[in-house]
Amino acid sequence: MDYFNYKQDELFAEEVSLKDIAEQHGTPAYVYSRATLERHAKAYTDSFSAMSGLVCFSVKALSNISILKVLKDCGCGFDIVSGGELHRALLAGADPQKIIFSGVGKSEVEMAAGINNGILSFNIESKSELMRLESVASSMQKIAPIAIRFNPGVDAGVHEFTKTGRKSDKFGVSIEDALELAKHCIRSKNLQMVGLTCHIGSQITELQKFEEAAHQSLKMLCEVEALGATLDFIDMGGGLGVTYVNEETIEPHELIQSYETIFKGRSERLIVEPGRSISANAGVMLAKVEYEKDAFLITDAAMNDLLRPALYQAHHEVWQVQKNSNMLQNYNVVGPICETGDFLAKNVSLSAGEGDLLAIRTVGAYGFVMSSNYNSRTRAPEILVDKDQFSLIRRREHLSDLTALEEGLDD
Ligand SMILES: Cc1ncc(COP(=O)(O)O)c(C=O)c1O
Repeated sequence: MDYFNYKQDELFAEEVSLKDIAEQHGTPAYVYSRATLERHAKAYTDSFSAMSGLVCFSVKALSNISILKVLKDCGCGFDIVSGGELHRALLAGADPQKIIFSGVGKSEVEMAAGINNGILSFNIESKSELMRLESVASSMQKIAPIAIRFNPGVDAGVHEFTKTGRKSDKFGVSIEDALELAKHCIRSKNLQMVGLTCHIGSQITELQKFEEAAHQSLKMLCEVEALGATLDFIDMGGGLGVTYVNEETIEPHELIQSYETIFKGRSERLIVEPGRSISANAGVMLAKVEYEKDAFLITDAAMNDLLRPALYQAHHEVWQVQKNSNMLQNYNVVGPICETGDFLAKNVSLSAGEGDLLAIRTVGAYGFVMSSNYNSRTRAPEILVDKDQFSLIRRREHLSDLTALEEGLDD
């Protein structure tokens, strides 16, 4: 459910015409709906009943600090994967005790920053990482809070690049190794095991996959408890799928209810780390058709603005900002980049031509954050709509931004 709707034949974000936004800020441009973000965040935060819960929005999905502020005000904490994301979350005013640090390759500098800022937990993905964190904490004479990320061995049945919970994936540790690491933490002076965590993949639409992982987590909780550790939380990661075209997916309350049933009687808090299911449907990208050539609509937006179609062969619906009664035709919507893989949508039925505005839908997650300057293209602006108002939350890059960090032209 989102707040992008037609009024008569014109597409609006909440009460704002997307044509007006394009006129003021140009194209390509990312446009987000605050009401949609809030609705999705609350769909999670309002779902906990039997367990006390924390929703840590996965910052990698959409990391603009104005968006993080909106989600923080809905009660969300944050799942981060880098020192940069920690910086963003803190700038947005996040409570460090609601920040979880995931990721397989944390550096010493990032570990020290997390410890200094008093984050809730480091989600540990390997024995080497645990040892390194212990030595960083020891050198700072501090105790680092950790959760061990174990692989429940669930094949999430999604795109190969977004499966993360199998033994062969680079994330987490096996169940056996997790128990060994737990024993090490219990003996350590500089580590405190506060949780257990897993994350089986992204864009998952079958409840049963999450349930399989939760049953494994419950078993692990009991085994860790038997070792003598008392944990603060079980973190089930993110991964809930969204509707890009016509996928049937799960509602956040169904997921939380199902976790609460499986963990019935446990006293740990339940943490979830949704990204896509909070922000994907809250964003569209506006693009203008520059040229029509055979069955191609060549737009001013390209794979550097939205990588998902090229990277994952992902499908995004394309809507015309202004509907018309012209004949529909099948088009491939492509960008101006010098790659055959530079497409935004294939085989979509449109009645658009040169100069028309298109809205590429469901791009609020893994959209702007994956954009680049490939082909020396400046990055698009981000705009946040709130009822009948809209504000620029990141300006369009200037040509001078492209070269601002380059050196060596002095002589
Ligand atoms: C550890 C972890 N948590 C949460 C997420 C968010 O996943 P999603 O956006 O599918 O909800 C990811 C994404 O890959 C992740 O790696």
